[in-house]
Amino acid sequence: MADHNVLSDGNTEERDEIIGMLTKAYWMEIETVMSYVANSVNPDGVRAAEIKESLAADIQEELGHAQQFAARIKELYGTVPGSMDFKAEQDFLQPPETATDIPSVIRGVIEAEKGAIDFYSELIDKASEIDPVTEDMVIAILRDEQGHMREFEGFLKEYEAEGRA
Ligand SMILES: [Fe+2]
Repeated sequence: MADHNVLSDGNTEERDEIIGMLTKAYWMEIETVMSYVANSVNPDGVRAAEIKESLAADIQEELGHAQQFAARIKELYGTVPGSMDFKAEQDFLQPPETATDIPSVIRGVIEAEKGAIDFYSELIDKASEIDPVTEDMVIAILRDEQGHMREFEGFLKEYEAEGRA
């Protein structure tokens, strides 16, 4: 670290490392938006309604996260990548074989949120060295993801209690 200014020439290396992590986070959010759009529409059944409604609401929040990550990439002299760079990773959030299989959707959401929580915790740790603005931003986003995960853990608990999961 050359000095404590994340935007100084001497800190290009540190900055690039943070931009790399912000870019990964950006793609995670974009893929989550895709997965939640599909899963807020696909499930069938009376019990699916609440899950679909909750996911539909989360889409806007996840999109907002993607926009925040994009803005921060730019502020750090980076470039937000184009769609050709996108590589899908959320194999656990693909549509289940039967549209009434709600527990598998719930488990997929929990896994997505857990992945985000793990990675954002790493990003916060990295940013804390030199970039308190990124650190602060990601702390707020981390709280949203923790809230989503806890909500879906609650949904799963209900299914398990009824012997349906
Ligand atoms: Fe998010």
